[in-house]
Amino acid sequence: MDALSDRYGRRFPYLRLSVVPACNFRCMYCLPRGYHAAAGTASPLSLQEITRLLRGFVQLGMHKLRITGGEPSVRQDLTAILRTAAAVPGVIKLAISTNGTLLSRRLHEWMDSGLNAINVSVDSLDRAVFARITGRDLLDDILRGVDMALASGLPSVKLNAVLLRDVNDHELPAWLDYLRDHALGLRFIELMQTGDNLAFFRERHVRAERLEHELQNLGWQALPRAADAGPAREYRHPDYAGRIGIIAPYSKDFCTGCNRLRVTAVGDLRLCLFGEFGIPLRPLLQDDDQLDELVGAIRGQIGHKEQGHFLHQGRTGITPQLASTGG
Ligand code: 5AD
Ligand code: SF4
Repeated sequence: MDALSDRYGRRFPYLRLSVVPACNFRCMYCLPRGYHAAAGTASPLSLQEITRLLRGFVQLGMHKLRITGGEPSVRQDLTAILRTAAAVPGVIKLAISTNGTLLSRRLHEWMDSGLNAINVSVDSLDRAVFARITGRDLLDDILRGVDMALASGLPSVKLNAVLLRDVNDHELPAWLDYLRDHALGLRFIELMQTGDNLAFFRERHVRAERLEHELQNLGWQALPRAADAGPAREYRHPDYAGRIGIIAPYSKDFCTGCNRLRVTAVGDLRLCLFGEFGIPLRPLLQDDDQLDELVGAIRGQIGHKEQGHFLHQGRTGITPQLASTGG
């Protein structure tokens, strides 16, 4: 079957599926008061519903799946989800985004289940700053998990750091030290405005441009954009084992390379992280016989995907914070 493409010729080989909205961290930009389920919150998709969803997306050309949350490892059956996802013919790259709390304990189990890529949020290399940002004093254990992932030969290891003015935006030297001998990709992410964080956003948002110039002055070289690259601009340097990516959602052309769709933990299709609506797919996940209907429904929605987001106009869409949409 034809791979899915939208009005702007973009294809969507990449699905980000949130499997649970809950999280055990309290990141200051996301869930500063921790996660509390709103009354009447539907339960997350079951393993069986997830399987049907993935079969549908694979028919539309999806071959990379990222499991997100909230924090995906809050789900007791995460290993079973990974195993099931890896067994869907067509899922070639299977990634999770995690805050790393269970990484050192579960890494091997996850890898045995077919996991081949991991993104870990590490907003600071300073233990106290990390604890201040996330509400949890777990930096050392998380970094141990990252080292294990590298030593175990996990094919793709990336770290995410959200840039926060006067909190962690002076840590480039520490990161460079770290990247000298850690063969992984660090992404600096500009803080994004969401429905819940406007005051925080105004106080802490900082453009990645200054950092990018610093890197260029230090001899870091921009890699040519790969055809299937996501929205990150990637840099490398011959003296360093690690790479650096910049994710700047407020920059021109950020949406041009968009190659992803999202599904929330309760099965709503989101065409854009900052879109105005979600399309409930759950009713189409109740029986194996609904596969064609599901595929038709997703195909029909892609025509509505907008060319870009409206963040510049302060329109954040229906995402109160990224924990609810999977980042
Ligand atoms: N802006 C930028 N990044 C965010 N994340 C969560 N909320 C925001 C935000 N408002 C990032 C986390 C993590 C990934 C899942 O999403 O830091 O790396
Ligand atoms: Fe949890 Fe990720 Fe949100 Fe932090 S950013 S509170 S780790 S969902």
